[in-house]
Order: sequence, then structure tokens, then C-alpha cells
Amino acid sequence: MKKEVFTLGMLLMFTGLLAQEVTIPISTQNSAILLQTDRDKRLRTIYFGKPLKDAGEYALVSGGYQYFDSNAGIYNAAYTPAGTWNIVEPAIQVVHGDGNTSLDLKYVSHKQDQLDDNTMLTSILLEDDNYPFRVTLFYKSWTHENVIEQWTEIIHEETEPVLLKKFASANLYFDQKEFYLTTFHNSWAKEMQPAETKLARGIRSVDSKLGTRAMLLQAPHFILAFDQPAAENQGSVILGQLAWSGNFKLDFEVDSYENLRLIAGINPYASEYLLQKNTSFKTPSLVYSISHQGTGAASRGLHAWARKYRVLDGEGERLTLLNNWEATYFRFDEDKLTALFKDASELGVDLFLLDDGWFGNKYPRNSDRSGLGDWQENVKKLPQGIGYLVKEAEKAGVKFGIWIEPEMVNPKSELYENHLDWVIRQPERPEKYFRNQLVLDLSNPEVQDFVFSVVDDLFTENPELAFIKWDCNAPIFNAYSEYLNRNDLPQSHLYIEYVRGLYSVLERVREKYPLVPMMLCSGGGGRGDYEILKYFTEFWPSDNTEPIDRIFMQWDYSYFFPAIASDCHVTNWGDQPLKFRVDVASMGKLGFDIVASELSEDELTFCKEAVSNYHSFKDVVWHGDLYRLVDPHKNDLASLMFVDEVKSRALMFNYLVNNRFLLTAVEEPIKLDGLDPSKKYSIRELNLFPGTRSRFKADKIYSGDFLMKVGINPAVSLRRTSVVLELTEVQ
Ligand code: GLA
Repeated sequence: MKKEVFTLGMLLMFTGLLAQEVTIPISTQNSAILLQTDRDKRLRTIYFGKPLKDAGEYALVSGGYQYFDSNAGIYNAAYTPAGTWNIVEPAIQVVHGDGNTSLDLKYVSHKQDQLDDNTMLTSILLEDDNYPFRVTLFYKSWTHENVIEQWTEIIHEETEPVLLKKFASANLYFDQKEFYLTTFHNSWAKEMQPAETKLARGIRSVDSKLGTRAMLLQAPHFILAFDQPAAENQGSVILGQLAWSGNFKLDFEVDSYENLRLIAGINPYASEYLLQKNTSFKTPSLVYSISHQGTGAASRGLHAWARKYRVLDGEGERLTLLNNWEATYFRFDEDKLTALFKDASELGVDLFLLDDGWFGNKYPRNSDRSGLGDWQENVKKLPQGIGYLVKEAEKAGVKFGIWIEPEMVNPKSELYENHLDWVIRQPERPEKYFRNQLVLDLSNPEVQDFVFSVVDDLFTENPELAFIKWDCNAPIFNAYSEYLNRNDLPQSHLYIEYVRGLYSVLERVREKYPLVPMMLCSGGGGRGDYEILKYFTEFWPSDNTEPIDRIFMQWDYSYFFPAIASDCHVTNWGDQPLKFRVDVASMGKLGFDIVASELSEDELTFCKEAVSNYHSFKDVVWHGDLYRLVDPHKNDLASLMFVDEVKSRALMFNYLVNNRFLLTAVEEPIKLDGLDPSKKYSIRELNLFPGTRSRFKADKIYSGDFLMKVGINPAVSLRRTSVVLELTEVQ
């Protein structure tokens, strides 16, 4: 029998709870998770839905269910232990110090701390009756944004170390009867390809075993829609992500009641963890936003949360830039670069970013085959060093930033020759390369010091350095750490200690350089989650900058990340007109990767004006609310808009993504969203290429009501394949 979405109540496997049960609501403005102990003090999830108006009624929720435990296990356990009487996929599985494999977790106590008027931290302590083994479940909830962050801490006082075989971050339970899961599949230059499936009985897993560039094949982000496929403006959905920059695993299990259990955490694959007495093991977080008005509201909540609480300087400013990667690749010298500084200044961007190829002497970095790891300026290309470039950039009126990939090494490098024991490799087996490189062993504190020093030395020598692009181009093959071996630590710690080592380096970087903007890159979008974005101001979504591909990718990334965090560059990929490329890149943090001096006069004039337009509206794109209006996956068009907080200014971006059958122009108006119905707006077309005229008259005034009910036609056609409109409130 199909139930209404988020009806009152969740599964209880038995009837008649006793009066001393403990009920713990974890709620935000529009959602509530209800946890409750049963007569044996096991903690269960009994409700996931809209909050009740009268919190007193939460105690009545469980009474409505008459399920009997004729099936195996406790399906709705809030954190499912293995080895006792659960036979479903566990959240936690351990081998105690004495070799015993059973675990049962009982409620001990909980507390709810109001951290500020918007944030609540709930912690629930569970303990095994037979072993001094404890698990604390944490739920941090942000009321206005409807975002929850969930993680777990595990600790024990057993004499011998305990082997953690599985240690999930979160274990959720939903009793709706139809579940539509959208996952995102990646490969190089093909990031964020969505696939929506209706979940059937059994487990659907999404995981990574790649170690470093962990998202190369699949992303840890998902959309879970209840009772109908995910829709932008209606229906109940969760947008979630495992915030961990290493191996992850998300298990979606539809059980015999047709309910769904979600278990999310570090991938237990090759990662058994030996936990010493009184040492706490903290899992990464599952972050999710909840909406009952579709994915639009869910991503606006997540964006607001990310800007305010998570992405470094998420509510701050960003630097527009010119990057030389596609303009020069590895072939540059001081003269070429200083000429590009002038291009940057001519375009009107804030910064010049020097990409790969500036380092290595014994093994110069003239291709991706050598030099990685030797972070000294190449004296042939840059005889006067980085310091000279920083000053020359300054003279040209732009700031200077630089590319590094400090976690990696080419076998053809001095670093490899001098520190073979720092390299992740199986000593007895042939090396396996990815982009001709290997990964350094960040579980080793000496390697952590080295990686930190790459950044620290650059800043110490060049205090004016204004930007870092931090790349990571290879996954881990032949996972083996000489450091762990030397210290009698299990090899199965490597994947976890690697990521912890990385975070600890980034922590040190941010302690010393709290504000310098840093871009996260991983051969495109191979890395990017809400843990690592604590340290980065932005990320590089993909090396693929072909603008039609980018429209789709930026659309799909936009479910999870705010525009301010997403770097979008104008390059020469594809054959779309320059205007189209600039318009697409203007929906994120704008950059260029072209040789401006090779542009025609009109093109240069256009770019300069577009950059100046961008500077005038970037605040709305960076800090405003995003409304996805027309989905390019289902239409010939894509249309998105950003609206500022007070709804007095908005930017609407429209693109033709498919020109089959489009003989004249798009026929119908597009309904806008997020405006104030009672306000009046004028519309101005921006980014017009020299010689073209707008279809929009500045003196025409529309009410927000009209724009949202009837809409406007941006008049996209084969001759106007991209149209940017600015809406301004008229007093
Ligand atoms: C990766 C990045 C590119 C560029 C190159 C340099 O592929 O994604 O943007 O920095 O490395 O080698």
C-alpha cells in the first residue's frame, strides 16, 4: 500500500512501546527526524518528515504502527551493529580485542546543545552491554537552511585494540514506498553525468576505491526523491554528500517492508582500522539538505549553508583571472608570461594564474613526464624567479597566483630519487602510473611537512602571492606505505591516514595563511566535497570547458555547490562563439584561459565589456539564490537565474543547447522565479556582441507577478544562442 509522502510515523517492528522510551527529535524549519529507544534501549528511527506543530505529539508517532518482527533484524536501527541479531547491512562491524565479533549498541544518554539561534548539536551516546565500547552519534542541524550534518565517534576501553571493519558516518531510514535515486557519474572531462533510478529491493551502492582523485569515476553526491522522480519545485527530496576526500561508500538498501536504509561512510574496502584503547575514531560527515518543495529549495538551502558555514570565505569575494594553461601549456618563458599579464590587465580581470610547468631543473617540467615534486623555479624558463613575475604582474596591475600539485611525484624527479620511501608503491612490483606520476604517502608526517613546505616556501619567498591552484591528478595504485610498515602500523590504515594527513596539512596552511584564495582541482573535478572545501575558496569542476558540456555540468553541480565556489573559464574548447563561452562562464566564478592578444578587435571589446558587466553583477551570482528554470536535459534550452537577497536584482542566463527543429526562435515565454510579485522590474540585455542589438527595451516595466506567472521570452534562436538578462527593481 502506498502511503502519502512523509506521513506520520515510521516503521516499528513491534507494538507496545513502554512508557520510559526516550524520544529525540532532530529538526530544522521544515524537517524532523525522530529517534526513539525501544524497550531494550535500542535506538531506532521512527519518523523522517515534516516537523509536527506540537512537539508533544512526537511521543504518539510510534503508536500507529503494527509491524511485527517476522523478518530478520532491526531494520530501523539508528546505527545498525553487526554480529548480534541484525542481518541487514551494518553501519558498524568490529572485532573486539578478545577476538569476539559481536556488537550490540544500547542508548545511554543524549544532549542537545543550541549552538546559536540557528544551529543545534545533538549527541547520543550508545554503549555495548558486554564490552566497554561506545559510539556517539552526532547530528548538527541548521534550522533556516534545512541542512543536517551527521557523523559518528567511536571509542573503547578494551585492553587490546579493536578492529573496526565498518564504521559508517550515518544510518538513515525512510518509510516512503518509492525511492528515486540520482547518482552522478564521472570520468575525465565528463564530470557529473546524472542517472536517476527507481530503487528496487536490494542494495544499490555508489563507491570509490581510488584513494586520492576519489571522484574520478563516481561522485559522493546524490539526490534522493520520495514517491516521485526528483522535480525542481515539488516533492520531498534530500540532496546529500559524503564529505570525505577519499574512498567513500553509500549503500541504499530497500528492505522487505519496501523501506529504505541509507548507510554512508568511508569505504570499508581495504580499510580495516585498528583502534587503540581510549582513542576516538571520528568518521567524516554525511551532509544533506531536506526539502518538501523539490530540488530547487533543497539546493538553495545547501548553497546558503555552504556559503555561510562551510566553504572558505563563502560569503566573501573572489578574484577573476586569466590562466595560462591552455594558452601556453608547458611552453612559456618570462616574456610570454609578462605579455599575458598585460592581457589580463587589458581584459580587466583581477589576477594572473601561472599553471603547470614552472619548476624542475635536473628534470625540467616541460611535459607531464618529469619534474613533479621538484618545486624550484626552472632557471631556463624563469631565470629571475617567481618573485620577478609577482612584481611584473603587479606593475601590469594584476595579482599573481600559481599552480602546484604537491601530493604527487614523477619518477623522473629529484624527489623520487632522494625519497623513494615517501612514494606510495609496492616495492616488489612494477610501478603503475597515472599521468606519468605517483602519489606521495601523506600518512607519513615527514611527507606532510614536505607538502606544507611547498606552500609555505612559496608564500615566504613571495608574500604578495595572491592565489593557489592545488591540483591532484592521480589515483592511488599499488597502495602500500613504507612509513606504516616501518612503524608497525597496518597497511589497511593507508587510505584513511592519507586523507587525514591531507587535512592536517591544509589545517596548517590555513592557520598560517587563513585568507589566501585557493582553488581545488583534480584533473578537473576529481575531488570536491564539503570537508575539503573548508580549506578552499573554490573548485575546478572539469577540464572540459566546451560551453554546452559546461551548461550541463554546471547545472548538475549546482544541485550541490553554490556558484561562488565553482570556477568557470572561457577557453577555446569547442566551436561555440566567444559570447556563448563568456556567458556560460559568467554563471560561476569567471576566468579566462585564452590569448587575449589573438582576439579580434570586436572580440576584445566584447570581453572587456563582459568582464566589466560581470564585476557589476557578480555579487548576485556569488551571493544570491539560484533558480533553475529550464532543464537542458529535457529541453532545447537551458535557463537559470540568480536573485539577490532583497529581490531587487536578478540575472537570467539562457542558452540554446540543441538546435534540431529550431527554425526560428524559442516560441514560449519562460516563467521566472524567486522575484517579489509586488515589485516592478525593468529588463536589460547584457553581454551584447558589438554590432548586435537587444530585443529588450529598457523602458518596459513588468511586475514580479507577471514575470513569474506569464514569464518572458528571452528570444533565444539560432542567431541568439545565448542571452543574458539583468532585471532591476524599478521604484
Ligand atoms: C590538470 C588540471 C588542468 C591543468 C593541468 C596542468 O589536468 O585539471 O587544469 O592545471 O593539470 O598539468
